[in-house]
This record gives sequence, C-alpha cells and structure tokens, in this order.
Amino acid sequence: MEHELIIHNLNKTDATGSYLLNNINLTLPRGSRLSVLGPSGSGKTTLLRMIAGLDTPSSGDIRFSGASILDLPPYKRNFGMMFQDYALFPHMNVSANIAFGLKMKGIPRQKQIPIVKQMLTLTNLEGFGHRKIDELSGGERQRVALARTLAPGPRLLMLDEPLSALDRVLRKHLLAQLTQIFSQLHITTIFVTHDHEEAFAAGDQIILMNQGCIVQSGTPEDLSQHPVNDWVRQFMG
Ligand SMILES: Nc1ncnc2c1ncn2[C@@H]1O[C@H](COP(=O)(O)OP(=O)(O)OP(=O)(O)O)[C@@H](O)[C@H]1O
Ligand SMILES: [Mg+2]
Repeated sequence: MEHELIIHNLNKTDATGSYLLNNINLTLPRGSRLSVLGPSGSGKTTLLRMIAGLDTPSSGDIRFSGASILDLPPYKRNFGMMFQDYALFPHMNVSANIAFGLKMKGIPRQKQIPIVKQMLTLTNLEGFGHRKIDELSGGERQRVALARTLAPGPRLLMLDEPLSALDRVLRKHLLAQLTQIFSQLHITTIFVTHDHEEAFAAGDQIILMNQGCIVQSGTPEDLSQHPVNDWVRQFMG
C-alpha cells in the first residue's frame, strides 16, 4: 500500500533535555484514519504541531508522499489542522470564516463562493452562512471550524480533541456526524483524543501515547483485546 505520511525516529526535547516526544515511528497509508489516544500531557498536541510545522523536532524525519517536509513552512505543507478551541474569528460571519484559508491562498472571490457553499452543505450548515459566530451553538461552531479547515482542500486533516468543548450527549452525536463526513472525503485523517471510545470510532488505526512515547499501536481490537501491558489495560478501562 502506498504510504502517505511517514514519521521516522522523531524526538523532541525541552530546554532541560527531557523528552516531549520520544522516538516516534509512524506510517500512515493514503486515505487512512489514525486516532492518537493518550492521557493529558502525553504529547498528542506536540506531535500534531510537529506534523503541521508549527514546531520543529529535535531529531528524526517527517516525510509526506515520498519527501521530507521538515524544511517546508506550514502553509506549504497544505495540511489542515483544527484546534481544540476552534480558533474561529468572532467578528466574521460563518461564510467569511470558511473562506479565510481560501483568501490566504489567493483564490479569487468568485472561486471561493462555490467552495464555501459546498462546505456548508458538507457540514450541514446550509442557511448559516450569514450568521455570526456568537449566534451559534457549540456543535455548530465545531462544524464551522471543520468546514474552514477543509475548504482549502488539505492533503492531510488533523483534528485536536475536536469534541472536548462539548457536552457528552452532543459529543456522541457529533462524533457520528464527523465519521460520516470523513468517510465521504477519503482524506488521510489524524484524530486526537483522550477518550478511547472516540478513538475507536474515529480511527481504523490507533496509537496510544504516554509520556511522549507510543506505548501500543494497532487496530481498536488489538488495543482492547491484546493490551501490551497493565498500563494499557488500565487506560482502556
Ligand atoms: N513548548 C513547550 N515547551 C516545553 N514543554 C512543553 C511545550 N509544549 C508542551 N509541553 C509539555 O509537553 C507535554 C506534552 O504536552 P501536549 O500538549 O503535547 O500534551 P497532550 O497530550 O496534547 O495533552 P492534552 O490532552 O492535555 O491536550 C506536557 O508535559 C507539556 O507541559
Ligand atoms: Mg493537547
């Protein structure tokens, strides 16, 4: 199978020399869905930031479609990242938020309009284009953030705890919507969460992280049926 994203011996140390990421190895086939699972502080966001180019590794390599991307600035990687807090622009309406990345790429206004329309449809937000961000529910904001991330057509989609700001009932409902959108898109996806049920629903492969290391990787079944140690067994409940 063709491999889209390859992470090789990736390390990140802080100023004192302790490891934030410790020898991360990862191979992600094109179109696959990976869940990055782990407790708070295990290095999940740090790993995403390295892939996105928002932070630089201490050593190791990150390759995409056959070439190292470490020298590419974030905007040239053409990856989409949706942050934990969504980071929407409160003074712009929904459509302007969705069009933001297109504008940054220099796509002319006339070409932005059909893409924004398509994204509103994809995320079930038809009729919401002119709404202000503070007139939206948490779940609607989450979908605007997803639409904004997807609009420029990223080669890789990364979602950092996309459901953590929402209540339990809504989380379940939106997770189902998200996985339904992913399956329509055929885009390589990395989904970060500290919740194993979410990880299992969102990914066909899981990496479980603790203290900057990958403790176990495999399918949801591997992790729940064959935990490699007591810590994994306990984390899985
Ligand atoms: N720029 C930085 N410099 C030094 N330490 C950092 C830096 N960024 C994060 N850390 C530390 O690295 C560790 C991993 O942080 P990270 O944000 O990746 O965890 P996480 O798994 O995303 O946690 P959460 O589930 O709470 O979001 C933490 O101990 C954090 O304090
Ligand atoms: Mg995090």
